[in-house]
Amino acid sequence: MGNDKDSITVIDNRNGRQIELPIRKAAQGPDAVDIGRFFHELGYFTYDPGFLSTASCHSALTYLDGTQGMLQYRGYPIEQLAEHSNFLEVAHLMLYGELPSREELDKFSGIITHHSMLNEALKGFFRGFYHDAHPMAIMVGVVGSLSAFYHDSTDISNPRHREIAAHRMIAKMPSIAAASYKHSVGEPQVYPDNSLSYTGNLLNMMFAVPCETYEIDPVAEKALDLIFILHIDHEQNASTSTVRLAGSSGANPFACIASGIAALWGPAHGGANEAVLNMLDQIGDVKNIPAFLDRAKDRHDPFRLMGFGHRVYKNYDPRARIIRQMCHDVLARLGDASDPMFELALRLEEIALNDDYFIQRKLYPNVDFYSGLIYKALGIPTNMFTVMFAIARTVGWVAQWMEMIGEHDQRIGRPRQLYVGHRQRDYVPIEQRG
Ligand code: CMC
Repeated sequence: MGNDKDSITVIDNRNGRQIELPIRKAAQGPDAVDIGRFFHELGYFTYDPGFLSTASCHSALTYLDGTQGMLQYRGYPIEQLAEHSNFLEVAHLMLYGELPSREELDKFSGIITHHSMLNEALKGFFRGFYHDAHPMAIMVGVVGSLSAFYHDSTDISNPRHREIAAHRMIAKMPSIAAASYKHSVGEPQVYPDNSLSYTGNLLNMMFAVPCETYEIDPVAEKALDLIFILHIDHEQNASTSTVRLAGSSGANPFACIASGIAALWGPAHGGANEAVLNMLDQIGDVKNIPAFLDRAKDRHDPFRLMGFGHRVYKNYDPRARIIRQMCHDVLARLGDASDPMFELALRLEEIALNDDYFIQRKLYPNVDFYSGLIYKALGIPTNMFTVMFAIARTVGWVAQWMEMIGEHDQRIGRPRQLYVGHRQRDYVPIEQRG
């Protein structure tokens, strides 16, 4: 490849043909080579499984630099938002592009608060699930079922309809999450309370019962708010890309978010926070750590240290740095000091951070290593961890979906493939097959 200022020349060594590919400038980070004409001009597809070098879209929402360990929402460093802001203020920033004035924030918070109730008909959906259904399974189903409601506001070509759908999704997610939990433990659903904060309301809907008063712990409320800010968006990760791809066909927005929840569930993505606790359970005792580290390093063993490593961060995950401090504070205030799991986690963190295998591969603890520990200290059951992630990430999903649908040249997403199957062959009748 040769190079000039605003393009790259690609020469096909098979036949000497060459094309100039324009370079699209990034506001920060690497520029991108526009390969839109590649196939048309040279007759090749480009091949990049796992999208290691491919930008699937342009976006003005989130910027991250994995080498430096840097994350920004709409240009604001995550450290500043974590220290000074709150979840709904950051949600406003993501949806509308700017931090709100006091008046705008009050209005936005009021709208989200007043959309938090669920249609009573949804109770039937919850009841349809078996009592031991995983809350993520319930969430995928119930959020998808919202596509069957709200016909007044699902004309996705109408910006106001898109905005109402976004508000509904952000507002109803805690209610759906809490109802999924209540179903799994056989307790009555608790209705949202408009006098409470976003995370206070979630805690109340999860842990209050009709027969006694429930007091929201301000440490828990604040910790959840912080975790939610950190999880709002993370550019084109698997679940966000799934939401964009589903949305690119013009699908119903609630169905698109359900597809994002499904993609988030996997242990390599949002399911990692649950997998961390399951792994700690499996390790069981500090004395077993070396044996599990050996397994993690063994190429022939599929075991990996859950909560370590990241596709993009090859430095400390900046969210992990923020949440690590919170994790230590929460454990000191709310954690059961006698719970050996906390000691085990902190010891594993220390040992892995000093181990050559992890140092050489730049495998640092990621945000989910700590979020799971905080959730446990807050009394949130393990199978609800990924649900918590989904509540926060809904803001990112709807902001990305709105950004994409709002583009004037928006097109359906349709990746190509490198076909490696049979060439054409003739059908053989069943009695003649060997
Ligand atoms: N434990 C042990 N070895 C690991 C781990 C791990 N957790 N992660 C990566 N490696 C090794 C891997 O075996 C490979 O070694 P080698 O070069 O000798 O073949 C090397 O490190 C590079 O790994 P990779 O699989 O090429 O990296 P990736 O970018 O494809 O995978 C990852 C990233 C997050 C899927 C992976 O690190 C992982 O499976 N981590 C555990 C699951 C986890 O915590 N996921 C949550 C990510 S943060 C939340 C989110 O944003 O969704």
